[in-house]
Amino acid sequence: MSETPVSSSSVASAEASKRYYGHKLKEIWSKSLENPEAFWSEVAENIVWFKKWDKVYEWDPPFARWFIGGILNASYNALDVHLKRGLKNKVAIFWEGEEGASKALTYYQLWREVNKFANALKKLGVKKGDRISIYLPMIPELPIAMLACARIGAIHSVVFSGFSATALADRINDAEAKILITADGLYRRGKIVPLKTTADEALAMTKTIEKVIVVRRVGLENTPMKEGRDLWWHDVVKDVEPYCPPEPMESTDPLFILYTSGTTGKPKGVVHSTGGYLVWVWATLKWAFDPQPDDIWWCTADIGWITGHSYVVYGPLMHGLTQIMYDGAPDYPAPDRWWEIIEKYGVTAFYTAPTAIRMHMKFGEEWAKKHDLSSLRILGSVGEPINPEAWRWFYEVIGGGRCPIIDTWWQTETGGFMISPAAGIELVPLKAGSATFPLPGVHAEVVDEDGRPVKPFERGYLVILAPWPGMLMTLWRDPERYKEVYWSKFQPNKYLQFKITPPAIYYTGDYAMKDDEGYFWLMGRADDVIKVAGHRIGTAELESAFVSHPAVAEAAVIGKPDPVKGESIVAFVILKSGHQPTDELRDELKMHIRKTIGPVATPDAIFFVSSLPKTRSGKIMRRVLKAVVSGGQLGDITTLEDAASVEEAKKAVEMLRKAMEEATKK
Ligand code: WTA
Repeated sequence: MSETPVSSSSVASAEASKRYYGHKLKEIWSKSLENPEAFWSEVAENIVWFKKWDKVYEWDPPFARWFIGGILNASYNALDVHLKRGLKNKVAIFWEGEEGASKALTYYQLWREVNKFANALKKLGVKKGDRISIYLPMIPELPIAMLACARIGAIHSVVFSGFSATALADRINDAEAKILITADGLYRRGKIVPLKTTADEALAMTKTIEKVIVVRRVGLENTPMKEGRDLWWHDVVKDVEPYCPPEPMESTDPLFILYTSGTTGKPKGVVHSTGGYLVWVWATLKWAFDPQPDDIWWCTADIGWITGHSYVVYGPLMHGLTQIMYDGAPDYPAPDRWWEIIEKYGVTAFYTAPTAIRMHMKFGEEWAKKHDLSSLRILGSVGEPINPEAWRWFYEVIGGGRCPIIDTWWQTETGGFMISPAAGIELVPLKAGSATFPLPGVHAEVVDEDGRPVKPFERGYLVILAPWPGMLMTLWRDPERYKEVYWSKFQPNKYLQFKITPPAIYYTGDYAMKDDEGYFWLMGRADDVIKVAGHRIGTAELESAFVSHPAVAEAAVIGKPDPVKGESIVAFVILKSGHQPTDELRDELKMHIRKTIGPVATPDAIFFVSSLPKTRSGKIMRRVLKAVVSGGQLGDITTLEDAASVEEAKKAVEMLRKAMEEATKK
């Protein structure tokens, strides 16, 4: 019998409603909202401050400042504290390379490397507040570089190593980064990808980078190194002092910028603070996963995304955990690579994404069955809604029916978990596919267009009604866009039933519903963002990449439900006159997108059309496109607000259908 309470239906029974929301959890949650000052000053004591804050928070909507006056350092909290607590020789990172290499770094060793690299950066002239771009695969140098930045007060901007040269250049330019840290290459499914060559292409489009530091990861011969600009990592750390004093940082100093997709073509530079972010990440990891001293933690996310920042780098290190870092594909050389790693190290806590679970489901459970996974005690999921089938497979096949699944809903902007089961406080009965309840400090609601709470089982928008320590500070050098994107959809108005002062509503961009027991069910994005294999990509970003090709006049991109990836990218393209819709051109466009954004953005289907259904104001009717692609009901086009001539839209839809039919026939 499983010990994890799993309720098979969402129908409230007398028994369930007695248990449904852990009383302790509810009590702590209520307290956190009633008296945030008292609550957060207690929680914040768990990390180390060089000087305590004067004020817990200031809320000048939509800008919040947390632990004002507090002084601390992120790398000190991730490393030095453990050296003082007797964890010096504990393994911080067990690293596995795709090619079979492995390495263990103790807290002491990691601390040494960070100190040396911090001094190397200083020697190159890096100062507090400078931006450093990091474009590395999942090798130990990646967290080392981030922590070295944090140690000297430089702001890191990590760019996922699967992104293209253009994407990297955009991010370097926006942040005006001074240094770029990259590698000669990386391994992907047995092949070598020459990362430095891509970095060089990006550098040709940027002006601010003074030095490039290159890690020798794959030992590629002939790695292009520009005299005077490019330096090898192993050289810069040669003659430096072994100790670098941690820079005293204000709690409200930015720790990092992380770019994410939004509803326009330009990626948004999400800025996170030092104090608020660290407290949030520390607390949420504790509450959700109940970390134990002898845990072997494995979060499979790439550090290039927020999940890796918070739950590979800062969270597990602040908790002094031992963790796995794997630099390779989940199915290389065989589909049981992950299960082999879990067995090899005795992983106890395993945090991954629904898309990966569905991929492994497809390979079949025999791969997992080949390995002893009995060390696992807790599982986690993130990135997109987890469908009940994948949830059950994960629970039974990987977790052996023993391990609760911590389905964590959150975003790049929220810094850490927001809605999630709380094994570290009190585990409520789980329901396959629900992220359960908001964590302490999270005032989440589901509302309609007017900001009114919806009824149980009704779909609405997920909003957050109070500031929390982990929330983004702003968008890098774009406070107006920050206001506009997150805080303007819902104007607190006469309908508003929430007593929040001062009133401000954070719009998450997600659909959600609550069931009759108050459980939250996340239902995907409500805006023009798509989630492909858990990666967040803006349709506008894709569309502008399409039209940057000389043959393309106009493009509309939507996400189509995909059984493994969650969503796949489908594009409708109108060609400029003089260009023929050929298979060659289709392939060329696919390549163009890979080059402009990166392989994660490769479209699954491109349809050539001669017109698109649009509203009178010229906006593409994505809802209609989505319905056409998924074969769903079009609904009544006439009722769409601001619809263009209905006849025209219908005609366009007919054409789309025909184009798709033809493409499938081929
Ligand atoms: C989606 C990833 C359902 C959601 C941490 C959100 C989820 C977006 C979940 C943020 C979940 C993340 N259930 N949906 N457990 N976790 N999402 O910024 O749409 O890459 O808004 O952060 O992912 O994506 P991001």
